[in-house]
Amino acid sequence: MFWDQETVAWTLTDDTGASALESLRRPQTVHQVAVKLAMQTGYSVSDVRPEVARLIDSAVRCGVVEADREPRRAPEPTATDCAPHPAFLYLHLTSRCNLRCSYCYASPGPNKEREGRDIPFEVAREVLHQAQGLGVENVVITGGEPLLHPRAVELIEEAKRLGYRVNLLTNGLRIERPVAWRSAIACEQVTISLDSADPTLHDLHRGHGSHRRASRAIAVLRKVGFCHVVAAGVLTRHNQHERHEDFETYARSLGAERVSRAPYILQGDARDAWLRPHFASFLARLRQELDVAIERARPREERPGLVWRDRCGAAFGVVAIGADGVVYPCQGLMRPEFAAGSLREEPLERIYTQAPVLTEFRAITVADIPGCSRCAYRFLCGGGCRALAYNVTRDITAPIPGEYCALAQLLAQWRLWGTALGQMPLSAPAEVPL
Ligand SMILES: C[S@@+](CC[C@H](N)C(=O)[O-])C[C@H]1O[C@@H](n2cnc3c(N)ncnc32)[C@H](O)[C@@H]1O
Ligand code: SF4
Ligand code: SF4
Repeated sequence: MFWDQETVAWTLTDDTGASALESLRRPQTVHQVAVKLAMQTGYSVSDVRPEVARLIDSAVRCGVVEADREPRRAPEPTATDCAPHPAFLYLHLTSRCNLRCSYCYASPGPNKEREGRDIPFEVAREVLHQAQGLGVENVVITGGEPLLHPRAVELIEEAKRLGYRVNLLTNGLRIERPVAWRSAIACEQVTISLDSADPTLHDLHRGHGSHRRASRAIAVLRKVGFCHVVAAGVLTRHNQHERHEDFETYARSLGAERVSRAPYILQGDARDAWLRPHFASFLARLRQELDVAIERARPREERPGLVWRDRCGAAFGVVAIGADGVVYPCQGLMRPEFAAGSLREEPLERIYTQAPVLTEFRAITVADIPGCSRCAYRFLCGGGCRALAYNVTRDITAPIPGEYCALAQLLAQWRLWGTALGQMPLSAPAEVPL
């Protein structure tokens, strides 16, 4: 595959075509390329030349090769490249929780069911109404454990009534029949946190007995029907060795339609030493899976031409509302230094479009991240999760740690190949979350 790292245009060719395109790294005429290829293949220049002209013409048309002799200029990304539009609103109904998961970004300290606060019903209802004006399409109901909010189901139903796609993130402990019925009817998706098929591994992360209750929640929701049920896991060094297929088979046997697993987001505190995944074996396995997927895929004639560019969604496609009614760039950056404004004092639209915390955040591009600004994957990766970078460095423009960067590159390759070959899953069996 040839791809242009600036435009993320790509083309697929065989070894001979690759050799011809390879020689275009330096400016060449069609004739020069044909002569080189004729020498390599033993055919005459006059036989090879029309084929070379056709190949180069098609490479020019799909944007991988430039026809003129002007040196190519990288388009500098600007903040206005992506007009701010929060497609996702993360609404934290409460900071209370009935579990104390070891890795949780939302509750670093002891977090009991009675501690913390609930968002006032009227504030949450009002934000759902205001978010319509901002073009929000998806509401993620989260927390803490959102179902501890005494009026959680009413708020979920209100979100549904307003036309949002609602995704409820829950640990499943409160999914009893009446709650399950009403949530399932109102939600497009209910995501149950499940870290492993093995109760010991799951409970090691999330507390004794939580595996049984999360598993039961998936089964109950499936029985009720109506919504998509997704099992979402966090990969740490304790469960990373579990084969994806085993996890998936277990979750599907309970009734989950889809599974996703994402690596632990480093928190920059003592927990990292215990939870940080060992990436070498994990990356090697993913690389192997990518090779097999490429080998098995048969390129389609009619191919989708687009590979989407990526960047951290914080303050762009995502905006988060804390249980305190404060607006933050994303659910991973709910820290006092990123508080953009309170919904008790200002409307959401004004905060989202004008708060300096968010406008400054949006001005950061991959070109500002040292080490990323010249990376071949920069427009596919965007520099990675800013919460992860901030957690470990306290610098919002710092690069993410090396092994997370290696994973980002692999996922970008997966996306590129997936799009080019059309038949592969578009994402790898691991996603970078947050
Ligand atoms: C904070 S929880 C809130 C919703 C609910 N209490 C639950 O556990 O599903 C949202 C999701 O974030 C995940 N999560 C928490 N801390 C994380 C971290 N440090 N890295 C990656 N995912 C994390 C949880 O596993 C859960 O799936
Ligand atoms: S259940 Fe969710 S909010 Fe509660 S501690 Fe676990 S991950 Fe955090
Ligand atoms: S995080 Fe890594 S892969 Fe992504 S742009 Fe930066 S250097 Fe490239």
